[in-house]
Amino acid sequence: MNRKYRKTIIAANWKMHKTPTETKAFAERLKSAIPRAKRCSIVLCVPFVDIPAAVKLLKDSRIAVGAQNLHWDASGPYTGEISADMLADLDVKYVIIGHSERRALFGESDLMINQKVHAALGAGLRPILCVGEDRQQRDLGVTLEFITYQLKAALAGVSPEDMRRVVIAYEPIWAIGTGQTATPDQAGEVCSAIRSVLRKLYGARIARSTTIQYGGSMNEANAEALLNQEDVDGGLIGTASLDADQFLQIIYTANQDG
Ligand code: 13P
Repeated sequence: MNRKYRKTIIAANWKMHKTPTETKAFAERLKSAIPRAKRCSIVLCVPFVDIPAAVKLLKDSRIAVGAQNLHWDASGPYTGEISADMLADLDVKYVIIGHSERRALFGESDLMINQKVHAALGAGLRPILCVGEDRQQRDLGVTLEFITYQLKAALAGVSPEDMRRVVIAYEPIWAIGTGQTATPDQAGEVCSAIRSVLRKLYGARIARSTTIQYGGSMNEANAEALLNQEDVDGGLIGTASLDADQFLQIIYTANQDG
C-alpha cells in the first residue's frame, strides 16, 4: 500500500452468510474494537437483507456498508432484483460488481458488469470492481492479458471523473475460498499491472490514486506481507471476515503506523 497517494480499504464480503440478528452482534463487536487512528477505511459488504441492521448500527461509526450486487436498470420487471437507487436510499456506499462467483454461477457477462458499474456510479455508489484469472489462465501465462481485457470491458465509457470513485479488487479465482493465497509477489505483480492499465486508460494521476485491493484467502496471518506490496491497497476478504476478531486483526494490520 501507499497511503500517500491512495486510500487503503479493508472490505468484508460476507457472501451468503449471516442473518440480520447475527449482523447486529458482529457490528457491535466491530464498532467497539476498531482502532481510533484512521489509516484505513473499513467496509462491510453484507447480504441485502442485512443492510438495514448494518446501516443502523454503524451510523455513527467510520465503517461503511456495502452491497454485493445490484441490477443495471433503474427499475423494471426484474423479479428478485435490487437497483442502485434502492441501495443508495438505504445509505449504502459501496457495491461489489463482477465477483467471480456472480460471473460463474449467475452468468454475468462483461456487458452486464459494465452496465452495473455505470448504474452504481449514476446513483452515487462506489463500485468495487472484481477481476481475476482462473487456474488455467495463470498456468497458460495469459493472466495479465485476461485482466486487461476484463478491466477495459468493465470500465468502457466510465469517465475519468467517475473513475475516481471506482475501487478495483484483484481476486485470482484459484485463491478464493481455497486457502491457497497468492504470494505477495504474485499479488503485487498483478496489482501493479492493473495500475499500468489504468494509467493507459486514465492517466498517471488517476492510476496513482486508485485503490486496488487483493482478495483470495486473505487472513490475519498473510495480510501484512500482502499489504506490504506497494500496489496492494487493501483487501476484499471472504472467509476471514466472518469472524469479527479475525477481521479486526486484518484491520489492525492495515492500520499500523508506517
Ligand atoms: P475468501 O477470503 O474466502 O477466499 O474469499 C475471497 C472473496 O471472494 C472476497 O470477495
